[in-house]
Amino acid sequence: MSDAPVILGLETSCDETSAAVLVGDRLEGHVILSQDVHEVFGGVVPELAARHHLQRVDHVVASALEQAGISLGEVDAIAATAGPGLIGALLVGLGWAKAAAYALEKPLVAVHHMEAHLFGPVLEDPDAEPPFVALLVSGGHTLLLHARAWGDYRLLGETRDDAAGEAFDKVAKMLGLPYPGGPAVSRLALEGDPEAIRLPRPMLSRSQKPGDADYYDVSFSGLKTAVLLVVQKLEASGELDARRADVAASFEETVADVLVAKTMRAVLETGCTRVVLGGGVSANRRLRERMTEGMGESGRVFWASPRLSLDNGAMVARAGRFRLERGEVAPLDVTASANLAFPGLVRTGAPAVAAGGA
Ligand code: KG4
Ligand code: ZN
Repeated sequence: MSDAPVILGLETSCDETSAAVLVGDRLEGHVILSQDVHEVFGGVVPELAARHHLQRVDHVVASALEQAGISLGEVDAIAATAGPGLIGALLVGLGWAKAAAYALEKPLVAVHHMEAHLFGPVLEDPDAEPPFVALLVSGGHTLLLHARAWGDYRLLGETRDDAAGEAFDKVAKMLGLPYPGGPAVSRLALEGDPEAIRLPRPMLSRSQKPGDADYYDVSFSGLKTAVLLVVQKLEASGELDARRADVAASFEETVADVLVAKTMRAVLETGCTRVVLGGGVSANRRLRERMTEGMGESGRVFWASPRLSLDNGAMVARAGRFRLERGEVAPLDVTASANLAFPGLVRTGAPAVAAGGA
């Protein structure tokens, strides 16, 4: 064996049970088990998520280790998501990691789920390194950050209400599409006209200036209501079936418009030549295209492959390795937190105060 550290990463914050074995920079084992049980309910049922993690976590870890050809005893550290997320789900992964760390006498690292998403792209492309502007868009969070270095993040903007992924999931429901809604809306949008229906661009106006409270923030709840009104109108006139794809395409375009405009403002202000997209919504084809167009010749946009954009253990192992290198070993009585504070994140204008678990 080489000297490269072997990190076991565990992710159980929502509805994916995942484990990864990271050896140095190489991902030697990676298993992601999605819980399709929630599809029936049109959203994640927290109690079911926790039970499913509990039933599968042993098997998922064993498979990842087997893929890597490594025994549990050869692991140098165990990293697990400690939050934010569903508390019952988090407790399963973190509890497993604590027990293993105790039994093996190996360091335990508590990882923040959204910081882990920042590390998704660098697993595949070593150039996805700070300084960069990061847009983290998932089912529960929408954050625009300036990452000056790993562990040194400035919060520029966030959502005032729904997360971007949540908006996709809700619009999917309105259109009668299955959960998770993002991929379904995106697939349907391919058949529609993105200019067909004019929807409001929330929190986006030319008159906004740097320093304004809404310059970087986003909001998706008004957009969601606007889509609902359109859907109801089309349903009443019997046109919904024929126009469903247009609604999906117009909604997706609007979300991309807002997110790209806000990210480009951040690029302009920070002078960054890199943009990193993270979280489940970063798997969105249109968002990636539009962001690349927006960035043009002034830099590069990074995103991870779908497997590493959605929830996965590899990003947790990678973020865990970074925290471990900084000596941040968690005590064995560390507890999971549904709204864990983002480590190293400071709000603009208040550099000394750590931001909450936005
Ligand atoms: O990061 P993630 O896997 O889990 C959370 O941390 O929440 O993100 C899940 C979210 C869901 O809301 C899902 O609908 C959305 O990401 N999503 C997408 C796409 N793939 C997943 N949204 C838009 N387009 C996609 N292709
Ligand atoms: Zn996530």
